[in-house]
Amino acid sequence: MAALGGPATTEGFGSIARACAAGRADLASRGLEESGARRLRLFSTWEITRYLIPVATGHFRRVLKENPDLPQGRSETEGGAKWFTLDEVLRLRAHFGAQGSKAKEYLPYRPKGQPAKIAAVANFKGGVGKTSTAAHLAMSAALDGYKVLVIDLDSQGSMTSIFGGRVADEWQTVFPLLARHYAQHLRSDNQRRLDRGEAPVPLDDTLSEALDIRATGLVQKTHWPNIDLIGAQLNLYWAEFQIPVWRMQGRGWKLWDALTDTLAEDGILEAYDLVLLDTPPALGYLTINGLAAADLLLVPLGASFLEFDSTGRFFDMLHSTFSSIEEAENMAARALGRDGLAFQWDAVRAVVTRYDAGQQGELASLMQSYLGPTLSPHRQGYTALIGQAGEQVQGIYEADYRDFNRETYVRGRETFDATYAAFKSLLIGAWRRDERALAEAAE
Ligand SMILES: Nc1ncnc2c1ncn2[C@@H]1O[C@H](COP(=O)(O)OP(=O)(O)OP(=O)(O)O)[C@@H](O)[C@H]1O
Ligand SMILES: [Mg+2]
Repeated sequence: MAALGGPATTEGFGSIARACAAGRADLASRGLEESGARRLRLFSTWEITRYLIPVATGHFRRVLKENPDLPQGRSETEGGAKWFTLDEVLRLRAHFGAQGSKAKEYLPYRPKGQPAKIAAVANFKGGVGKTSTAAHLAMSAALDGYKVLVIDLDSQGSMTSIFGGRVADEWQTVFPLLARHYAQHLRSDNQRRLDRGEAPVPLDDTLSEALDIRATGLVQKTHWPNIDLIGAQLNLYWAEFQIPVWRMQGRGWKLWDALTDTLAEDGILEAYDLVLLDTPPALGYLTINGLAAADLLLVPLGASFLEFDSTGRFFDMLHSTFSSIEEAENMAARALGRDGLAFQWDAVRAVVTRYDAGQQGELASLMQSYLGPTLSPHRQGYTALIGQAGEQVQGIYEADYRDFNRETYVRGRETFDATYAAFKSLLIGAWRRDERALAEAAE
């Protein structure tokens, strides 16, 4: 009884939350610059020539020497290793891309005139590695030279903290884009009402305000020069209540197109190479919007019975959710003699995360035999590097290899590099397929 203390109250939750917020602010402020901004670490010649730009170290040094205008890096000791910012690495990459051997791929492939690809990471099971996978893919694509936009659809805001985003309320999340999409629908519906001599449905303040908001205005810079962010925070959860209300009012509103349409309208797909969506552990409206917008869908899961079981049910829910949308739409479409709706993705892959070869080999092989090519053959290994990373260092690509045993670092990094390589082959394949289809259509 003594250990129990007094009864817990609602007010008690408030003080616990305040204690957590104070602790979080303390942690988040450690190692920050005075301005409160995060700073990305530097990259050494070893790392650049081993992982980032396909050039031999000797040649790299020679090219820098011959081109004094190029970034020369800085060293901590006389004659010690040279270190570069990511911005400088990107400039060096561009130089090699323009001047270096044509046989090497210095710049990542992006077909001209094609829109960015959107990739979503989703599973309604919590803690399977969605956010870690999405964040690491964003960082590896950025290191590879792509321009990346990360969109956080999870009101827990984990992805937003990883990239140091600051979000005051739902107006700095995707919420106003969804609201705008509905407001545009309502406006054109109202035009039809007026034509029929009926009274229009007035747009409330939220909807009118949303009409002026563009995705570009929601984008924040991050401490990565080529990763931008549209963040999330708790209020984004409000969308889960608001969207069904709008949908009741405007039956013809294609809510699943909201994100796809607004991102396209606002030029996001021209401005970036890759858009990565992190989704909450639920199949709510935000996730549905993210999934419908995605070209590539990754479903992370651990090689455990419970995660396999739950992921099976997730696919079952995807099947019933999207087929019920298609059926309802197609009934209307057939009546009007229009083309039906059929959702399509360039690729869908389940990805084993946090894999422990010593314990999980058998289960992973069983999963492989049932899922076939849907399960990505590469398994993302469990690595202590992720758990060890501190509050300022998020994941393997931000960690300084000198803080770890070199072998642990190389293994940890290789498993995430391989996750990215598997993803990149899907990305490039999807772009290439679009490019071919366009060329054939033009013939
Ligand atoms: N490859 C890995 N090795 C070791 N730990 C990992 C790995 N991937 C993820 N983790 C850890 O697993 C935990 C859950 O990961 P994460 O937050 O990415 O999952 P999630 O699916 O986004 O969770 P949620 O459903 O809450 O959004 C985190 O503590 C993360 O550090
Ligand atoms: Mg998450």
